[in-house]
Amino acid sequence: MRVTIGDIKEMKQRGEKIPMLTAYDYSTAKLIDECEMPLILVGDSLGMVILGYESTIPVTMDEMIHHTKAVVRGTQRALVIGDMPFMTYHVCIDDALRNAARFIQEGGAQAVKLEGGEIVADKVRRLVECGIPVQGHIGLTPQSVHQLGGFKVVGKTPEAAVRMLNDARALEEAGAFSIVLELVPAPLSKLITEKVSVPTIGIGSGPDCDGQVQVVSDLLGLFTDFVPKHAQQFAKLCDSIRSAVADYVAEVKAGSFPTSKHSYTMDQSVITELARSS
Ligand code: KIV
Repeated sequence: MRVTIGDIKEMKQRGEKIPMLTAYDYSTAKLIDECEMPLILVGDSLGMVILGYESTIPVTMDEMIHHTKAVVRGTQRALVIGDMPFMTYHVCIDDALRNAARFIQEGGAQAVKLEGGEIVADKVRRLVECGIPVQGHIGLTPQSVHQLGGFKVVGKTPEAAVRMLNDARALEEAGAFSIVLELVPAPLSKLITEKVSVPTIGIGSGPDCDGQVQVVSDLLGLFTDFVPKHAQQFAKLCDSIRSAVADYVAEVKAGSFPTSKHSYTMDQSVITELARSS
């Protein structure tokens, strides 16, 4: 049985912390699902950590659907959330509905995430009315990186903090089942977490959110272009990969790989026949 949005809301009510992690492919999603991760986000961060773009802005719906399908195939238990890319929900409610429906119908996701607060509340409300669970995302919203002037902490002034609290309330009121708080000062995310009834999921927003989300490539030490301050490398797979690949190169060059153990054989009669006819 898959985790439901009701299960996630109940975790907040019980005071149980909610882990969430991104995934972009079948094999990684399968391993994450085996660890009983309740929420898996197919984040548009895949634009940076998988596709090598400079930001999440170039990511398209087709790219997101392609990766969402793979993640859904790898999972049985987690609630999979598809991240709506830049400008696929801003222009009008019809666009938002059509694109969100693709995540659910084609991608097989159980929910979608979109960035913004009051400004997208009408879209969130309509998606929820149409039966599509929505996760909100406020604070640093990477799709607005050019407007924000970089990937930096948001909500430090009294005006910005009040605006963010209002954004969280607008998302709650519109029916979002949870809200990601990205790069929000810890005291502000604590306040928002206390003031809204739906779970807050923090990234770089301190320990008092109801849950935490990380980009899987940061957590596993796979993405080496930069390591955000808020990321904890629970493994350094980049080192393991470099060393394994270097060993492979060395063994192929030395002729020590493959050995007979890695080879397939054939009937002696076929070999004899081949030798005779060639
Ligand atoms: O795209 C993503 O991975 C995200 C998380 C950082 C929340 O939006």
